[in-house]
Amino acid sequence: MEKETSSCKPIEESALKSFRSHSPLKEVRYIIAVGSGKGGVGKTTLSVLLSLALKEEGFLVGLYDLDFYGPNSSLLLSSKKEEPIRNPEGYKPLNLEGIKVMSLSFMISEREPVFMRGLLAAKLLQELTQRVIWGPLDFLILDLPPGTGDIFLSMLDLFSPDGFILVTTSHKLSLADSLRTVSILKEKRVPLLGVIKNMSNLFGKEEAFRKFLEDIKAPLLFELPFLEEFSEKETLPEIFSKSEKRELLQGLAKEVLKRIFRIH
Ligand SMILES: Nc1ncnc2c1ncn2[C@@H]1O[C@H](COP(=O)(O)OP(=O)(O)OP(=O)(O)O)[C@@H](O)[C@H]1O
Ligand SMILES: [Mg+2]
Repeated sequence: MEKETSSCKPIEESALKSFRSHSPLKEVRYIIAVGSGKGGVGKTTLSVLLSLALKEEGFLVGLYDLDFYGPNSSLLLSSKKEEPIRNPEGYKPLNLEGIKVMSLSFMISEREPVFMRGLLAAKLLQELTQRVIWGPLDFLILDLPPGTGDIFLSMLDLFSPDGFILVTTSHKLSLADSLRTVSILKEKRVPLLGVIKNMSNLFGKEEAFRKFLEDIKAPLLFELPFLEEFSEKETLPEIFSKSEKRELLQGLAKEVLKRIFRIH
């Protein structure tokens, strides 16, 4: 059977080098990718929380949901069902809770994912990204899809993130996938800002987690426990507007800002 992304061709290096400086991303100061090797560990949740945290600190923030198949980030931010309107110049992101939000899934028709699996995943990503009118932003947060295959690699190449935040649980499967992700980051020379341990009160394995941090030589930026409140009733901004949760967000913003300003 043919591999799903086997014909996903890399974008030419010269085109990539100029992409950030000649694309709608040229007005973005910092691009931070939020990812992991593993699916379902909380990348989208933490991308949304980081966006909210940085916005609360007074920064202009954009959130780019790089999942071709469903606009998860916008659903966690708002219960309203909205889609951006396309005008001749391109797509203007939605403004949700003061954050500019765009999803790849907003921009593709139902036929395109099939097309994408064939020839042109990387090219389609570049073309769609070219169409987003972000305007000036302090931070663009990339909510990466699961996996470390060709699409993940194309995303790193295309955006050249200024920093990568690794989201993981302390479960051994998540740690094993995360190790693979970290070696890819090294190879691609993407700076690893640090690790977020999600659902930190589950799974145990303190010793294994500490060793993992030592092995990858990265700091623990933030720990988020399993929160019962995460349900379909409330959006993340609603849950995190309560005072004790707001403090969690401030802690997250502080650590990430410290790291990004130290590196850049
Ligand atoms: N700290 C937490 N407490 C409770 N539930 C959580 C927590 N973090 C994430 N979840 C829940 O776990 C599920 C998966 O989270 P999320 O969609 O953020 O993961 P993901 O890594 O982005 O998944 P995917 O790989 O599919 O993109 C969601 O239902 C989310 O609400
Ligand atoms: Mg996700």
